Amino acid sequence: MNPLQIGNLKVNLPIIQGGMGVAISLSGLASAVANAGGIGVISAVAIGMTEPDYMKNYREANKRALRKEIRKARELTNGILGINLMVAVTDYEELFTVALEEKIDVIILGAGLPLKLPQYVFEKGIENIHTKFIPKVSSAKAAKVIFSYWAKNFNYVPDAVVVEGPMAGGHLGFKKEDLEGEMVPLSVLVKETVEEINYFENEFNKEIPVIAGGGIYSGKDIYEIMQKGAKGVKMGTRFVPTNECDASGKFKETYINCKKDDITILKSPVGLPGRAISNGFVEKISSGKTEPFKCYWKCLKSCDSKNVPYCIAQALYNAANGDMENGFAFAGSKAYLTKSIQPVKQVVLDIKIEYYKAKFRKYLKNILNERIIPERIQIPKVIPSIKLKTI
Ligand SMILES: Cc1cc2nc3c(=O)[nH]c(=O)nc-3n(C[C@H](O)[C@H](O)[C@H](O)COP(=O)(O)O)c2cc1C
Repeated sequence: MNPLQIGNLKVNLPIIQGGMGVAISLSGLASAVANAGGIGVISAVAIGMTEPDYMKNYREANKRALRKEIRKARELTNGILGINLMVAVTDYEELFTVALEEKIDVIILGAGLPLKLPQYVFEKGIENIHTKFIPKVSSAKAAKVIFSYWAKNFNYVPDAVVVEGPMAGGHLGFKKEDLEGEMVPLSVLVKETVEEINYFENEFNKEIPVIAGGGIYSGKDIYEIMQKGAKGVKMGTRFVPTNECDASGKFKETYINCKKDDITILKSPVGLPGRAISNGFVEKISSGKTEPFKCYWKCLKSCDSKNVPYCIAQALYNAANGDMENGFAFAGSKAYLTKSIQPVKQVVLDIKIEYYKAKFRKYLKNILNERIIPERIQIPKVIPSIKLKTI
């Protein structure tokens, strides 16, 4: 696999692990993925729920927990680390600033258009900041809005962009009706985004890799999407059933036990649809029933806490801790392929094998199509090593 180059940052394994909240991807998973050569990502959303004083000092608890997890991950790896920050959270700027103070390598900005940057960026000067900024979008159009705004207002454009299709786990940047029936293929979104970004690459004289996410599960998926112009991939679901994933064993088991039909779309108080594994809790809220709760603070800008049927942060945190009665697991559309819980190192090795198998098959198919090998001659079972070397 070719490394993913983001400015001066070389990512040997072109995989960004999707940041997963609440408390699914913390220092454990992020450092393991970073050690495997990819970008390990800590999810910042409501991270302070892991602190005892969250209900009273939520802002401080969030900042403290994020700083702690970044530092903990740094002790476990010399690899590349990022955080995932939702634009929709009310303490967006504060968490952004903590990550910059900690000199995080990458910040992925999702769940909204990241048009604002914290004051810290301008005090330091955007060019002097080590951190790479990567917005996550669901369309080439959204990418254009962000890139044009940054170009005009900051004379700078993001260092890479993630385009995420409708097969992803977690919150989705699509309307519910776009998720029913035929969904837009990720390959189309990648192609359109590459074309859109090309203009900014020329204007700013820098390479801006397009990274594809949503339903990328196997090495074969990676190989195929890279043929369409993606320079890297973002994968969440595949890294949940791993020993290092920070969620409880019960959460991971829901992945192993789920079937294709269990994976469903629900309405989230964030104001976006979300993909999750159905269970009693999901059925309850989907049928219009509510799960009463006390809101200690408005963590999401768009949440109308008095009228939403449940608290999404609490439900996700409950699930992360194994309380599946009072929560649910977000999951991508391919979660049902999960067979067992494995170390990240093994998962990455499997992905590499799948990738090279797909690449080799394509190569062989091309040879056969070109009829370099006459039809009557049988293909040898053992391919001469000289040929393998040329792949
Ligand atoms: C369990 C789970 C939790 C997630 N939580 C978040 C989150 O808090 N914020 C976010 O921006 N994306 C979140 N995502 C999306 C991932 O970061 C990633 O973009 C997505 O998983 C990619 O699709 P895939 O799951 O098909 O690989 C979550 C995904 C999963 C599966």
